[in-house]
Amino acid sequence: MIEDYIEEAYPKTVALKDGREASIRLFTPEDADRLLACYADVPAIEQALLWDDMTDPNAVERLSESSDIEYNVPLIAEMEGKVVAAATLIRTPNRWTKHAALVRIVVRPDYRRLGLARQMVSELKEIALHAGISLLNAECVAEEKDAIALFSNLGYVRVAHLPAYVQDSEGRPHDLVIMLSNIRAQEAYGGGD
Ligand SMILES: CC(C)(COP(=O)(O)OP(=O)(O)OC[C@H]1O[C@@H](n2cnc3c(N)ncnc32)[C@H](O)[C@@H]1OP(=O)(O)O)[C@@H](O)C(=O)NCCC(=O)NCCS
Repeated sequence: MIEDYIEEAYPKTVALKDGREASIRLFTPEDADRLLACYADVPAIEQALLWDDMTDPNAVERLSESSDIEYNVPLIAEMEGKVVAAATLIRTPNRWTKHAALVRIVVRPDYRRLGLARQMVSELKEIALHAGISLLNAECVAEEKDAIALFSNLGYVRVAHLPAYVQDSEGRPHDLVIMLSNIRAQEAYGGGD
């Protein structure tokens, strides 16, 4: 059971590149204000490209309400009393895609390039493997070069480019890049994070 794995695995302390430590655990409704503060710290240009208006308390509330851990696993990383990163594993119960899940990750600007995203996505991968998932995908707006670099670095392959598939907060069109990782095959061959 994925629930049992999560209960056993978290909270987990991970070391970052600068020697500091972050604590990773499941998001709870009590974290909502600190999670909102994390998203509020993200530059406006990036916020405009996120999948939803994550500075809107309703969006974070929806995260709290998606309480079925089989289909929505929201993780946070904490440092110095702040939420510094949020990552979510999302899947649908459809027969077609129940072996697949979507990965989302945002790291607070002052805490980037420390390996936090790598650690968080790696945690989501472990959870996914325990949930019987074999394919993970990431949706990146084509301009999000850091995100594309991250997922490429983690062994994800660019499988689709959907022109003007995304609208930003102002309704402007952007291309969407879909990146995919076969985590079962990666495990079998010992590659990736
Ligand atoms: C993309 C993002 C999550 C990366 O977070 P991060 O904690 O800085 O990433 P990490 O430190 O774990 O970096 C892991 C690898 O990703 C790549 N990478 C990350 N940021 C990069 C950058 N600015 N330039 C080049 N490569 C980068 C590198 O290969 C890096 O490995 P290295 O540091 O050993 O070279 C962060 O920039 C972010 O939150 N961006 C805005 C939100 C977003 O685009 N989310 C993705 C949509 S799901």
